[in-house]
This record gives sequence, C-alpha cells and structure tokens, in this order.
Amino acid sequence: MKLNFNGSLPIQASEVARDWDTLYWVMTGVSLFFFVLVVGLMVYSAIAHRERPGHQASYFYHNSVLEFVWTAVPTVLLMGIFAWGWKVYHDMVSVPGDAYEIRVLGKQWLWNFIYEDGRVTTNELYVPAGRPIKLLMTSQDVLHSFFIPDFRIKQDVVPGMYTHVWFNPENPGEHVVFCAEYCGTSHSGMIAKVIALNEKDWQAWWRGKQLASIPSNTTGKSGETHAAGSLINQGQKLTQTKGCVACHSIDGSRIVGPSYKSLYGSRVEFSDGSTAQADENYIRESITNPQGKKVKGYEALVMPPYPGDAKEEEITAIIAYIKSLK
Ligand code: CUA
Repeated sequence: MKLNFNGSLPIQASEVARDWDTLYWVMTGVSLFFFVLVVGLMVYSAIAHRERPGHQASYFYHNSVLEFVWTAVPTVLLMGIFAWGWKVYHDMVSVPGDAYEIRVLGKQWLWNFIYEDGRVTTNELYVPAGRPIKLLMTSQDVLHSFFIPDFRIKQDVVPGMYTHVWFNPENPGEHVVFCAEYCGTSHSGMIAKVIALNEKDWQAWWRGKQLASIPSNTTGKSGETHAAGSLINQGQKLTQTKGCVACHSIDGSRIVGPSYKSLYGSRVEFSDGSTAQADENYIRESITNPQGKKVKGYEALVMPPYPGDAKEEEITAIIAYIKSLK
C-alpha cells in the first residue's frame, strides 16, 4: 500500500519505516473520519432539534440498534489497528538472523561505533546498504536514546546493560542520528550520521581502513581509531591478562568456574532452580556482579567482580570473545 502525502515526515529509508507510516496515516484518516462524523452529527442535532418559536426541543433517550453499532464498529476497528500495530512492532524488533552486528557506546556527548575488527568510529556509523544491521548498545555514563528518524527506530541506551535495535538501509545514503533522551548540557549536540555504502564502497572502506593500522590522522578520516586487533582478539587478551582463564576453560573442560565454550546462547541453570538464556546481558552481569546469580554446581565459586573502573569497551570485547567460542 502506498500513500503519497508523506512530505511532512522524514524519508522512508526502510520497509519498517514505510509500514509505520502507512499505519500512521490510516489511523490519522480513521480518526479524522470519526471526528467529522461525530462532531458533524452533534452540531446538526444541536441546531435541528433546538427549541425555537413554534418548535419544541426534541428529547431522545434510548436506541439499542444505534448503541450496538457504535460499540461494535469501533471495537472491531480498534482490534484491527491493534493487530496491525503489533505486526509492525514485531517486524521492527525481530532481528533477522543474518544481521550484521555493530556495537554502540553512548557517552556524554558522542556516539562510538565499535566494529568486529576493533575499529572505532566516532559519530559516523558506516554500514553496507541492503543488509540488516543490528546495533548492540550500551552507555558509559547516563541514559541516552538512539534515534534514527529515517528508519523510524528509537531505543534507549542504558548504562549497565545492553539493548539492541536493527534496521535495513535499502539504499546508499546518509541519515542523521539523534540522542532522544535528555542527557546533560550537550544533549542537543549528540548527533551522529549513518552512512550506508553500496557494496563496492563498503568493501573499499572495510579493506582500506583495515589495512590502515596506522595513526588515524594519516587516513584522512576524522574520529577514527584503531585498537590492537579485532574485538575477539582484544577480548581473548583481556581474559588472559585479567586472569579469567585460570578458572574458566575455553574447551569445555571443567576447571573452577563454568567453561566459556558454547556458553553464549545456552540455557544456564541456577542454584535456586531458575534458568536464563546466556545472552549479552547475562554475561555482562556475571562479569560485573558475579555473586548475583549462582550457577548450579558452582555454588562454592567465589569470583571477584571485574574491576569497577572497567571500561565498557573491555567488557564489550570480552563478550565478543565468549560469543566466538561456539
Ligand atoms: Cu545523549 Cu541526550
């Protein structure tokens, strides 16, 4: 379904954006129709049935047919709008399995984007066009909100946990990103750009910057840094230098704590009998507050929490590493 009076809204850069707009305009149209109908009948009745010389004010009280109709019709309409809205919402939050994952770190007052090869860009998110992109997001300080109007997506970015959002940029082009949650003095300046590249440019950007493991100022692009090695390598190094691997094996064998192997995505059972899926938030909590949940069979394990001054980037890298140990 295509509606053409969309000029008042930002461009529709994805299918989800088009779906939202269609729903929005249909709801606006339905509301407008009933507004005119109800107010029109009201005004007409007030005039036609008023008391005036030679005419007594009419008095209406009960009409079962009418009352049934004005209850049933809106009920069916609202249920339909609910089902439709639920469907679009479901499409908006269901990340396709083949989505390309990029980490987002919000801080006062900028956005850092962390790629799998360890590259970090600031306020410039490079993505391949025509592919679903998943953003795994967290904040270093306060609550932010990641908002891309052109894709009609908005998601809180919360310190201490991960949230995610996805979009499919259909065409190459640039789209603005706003912070949509008041986060201090320069909240309004917390603006980034999504740069969707065609396949050729994406490959060139990817290759070019990967080879350029030299200071970023010589690559010509601002706001780009190169960490030592890929995210997975960084995470692996951290689990060694911080001593994690003394207690957690990576090959599935039992040392002191649960093994990292095949941990991500698995179902973990706790000593109180409850279970949870080992997703990013579970692993994050296990690192920063290891005594919070006791894994069944490992009750005696006393793990010191990862240093409180740990950088979000480090936790992100460790999780990427654990995720890679399938
Ligand atoms: Cu970050 Cu507002």
